[in-house]
Amino acid sequence: MGSTGRLGPALAPRDPMLRRAADVAGGYRTDAVTLHGEDIYRLNCRGCHQESGQGAPPEINSVINPVRATSLPMVMEKMKARGLEVSAHDAAEMARQANDALLKRLHEGGENMPAFPQLSDPEVRALVAYLKQLAEVTGAAREQASLKASPVHIGEQIVKSTCHTCHGAMGTNPDAQQLLEGSIPPLSTLTTRVSRAEMIRKVTQGAPIAMGDPALPYRGRMPVFYYLTPEEVADVYLYLTLYPPGQNATEVAEAYTLAMSAGGTTDSQVDPPPTAGHTMSTADLQAQNDDDGIMAILSLSVAALLAFLLLAFGVWLSVREMKKLSGVEVTDGVKAEPVPAAAIPANASAA
Ligand code: HEC
Ligand code: HEC
Repeated sequence: MGSTGRLGPALAPRDPMLRRAADVAGGYRTDAVTLHGEDIYRLNCRGCHQESGQGAPPEINSVINPVRATSLPMVMEKMKARGLEVSAHDAAEMARQANDALLKRLHEGGENMPAFPQLSDPEVRALVAYLKQLAEVTGAAREQASLKASPVHIGEQIVKSTCHTCHGAMGTNPDAQQLLEGSIPPLSTLTTRVSRAEMIRKVTQGAPIAMGDPALPYRGRMPVFYYLTPEEVADVYLYLTLYPPGQNATEVAEAYTLAMSAGGTTDSQVDPPPTAGHTMSTADLQAQNDDDGIMAILSLSVAALLAFLLLAFGVWLSVREMKKLSGVEVTDGVKAEPVPAAAIPANASAA
């Protein structure tokens, strides 16, 4: 999934934006960050369910109605509108069951939706309060909560909900030709393939990737997660550095020391990369594509093919992988255990 509806900028070597490296100075942020319920939704759910919560039915159901069903006044109203008599007691019971079902879904996942064991109870409460506000449940605005999370936990949330939907945990690092054929580099390879600045650019703006033999720059197929901040993607990089899938504890600890001595700071010194308009309309895309010639067209048809494959396998893969990856709870970057290698199968790079 992870269908944000936006891809990176069309391949246009003339575009100074593409040549300008998103030069990120300074180290990682280490102070706890304040998260609102809305942020928890954005980091964990938005990639699949969209900003509005509507999702992309029929594959991805809307969250709105299941959330409304947890509100007693809304249940009563709905029953009345349907001309059904229901006692306050029964309506309360229905709302309670809907609430249980919602929490169960977050704890256990769904058929094609990952579970979220990495979310703490206060995080789940803040998330549910935000879901109610999104579903326009009366009084929900007053219940909004915020809490603190470590940067590494923010990275963890993004990786497990969003990146892992497409990127398997482990597996072979694909070469340029395999990328062209549709391989997606596993999470364990990302920090060796790209620098932190490159990852920030890839995720927040889109960046070309070398594919084929001979390797040529392509626009790529990965959607742009324009709603993540550069700091949050730096948190992803930090999380993947500290918890590279399949590494043992010593290596993780070494990586941590290294990352911190390489410039751990108490403040976020991450400069946001340039953010000028890459919000393209379909017409813009079309115009650009005409310009960019055969390479863009090629990469677009590959994209179309892959979009289909990703739809088919993405959901299946994510649930399967997610179940394995989320076996370990990480709430604090230093104390938590790394994911044991044996718990994660090699990336089934079906797509
Ligand atoms: C990888 C994609 C993905 C992510 C991430 C995701 N969901 Fe889902 N969600 C789905 C799919 C697919 C369904 C449809 C039912 C199923 O397959 O489980 C669904 C269904 C739901 C439903 C039930 C809709 C119904 O009709 O009963 C709720 C509620 C829900 N999601 C909430 C959330 C929340 C809250 C989050 C974030 C913590 C989240 N989802 C994150 C894919 C996702
Ligand atoms: C919808 C599927 C999808 C999702 C979700 C996704 N990616 Fe990707 N990603 C890809 C594909 C496909 C490629 C290879 C082709 C390309 O670059 O578009 C890729 C490539 C990359 C690369 C480039 C590697 C290189 O060598 O240049 C990085 C870095 C990356 N992804 C990071 C992430 C991060 C971080 C996330 C989570 C925020 C994420 N991806 C989410 C599909 C996805």
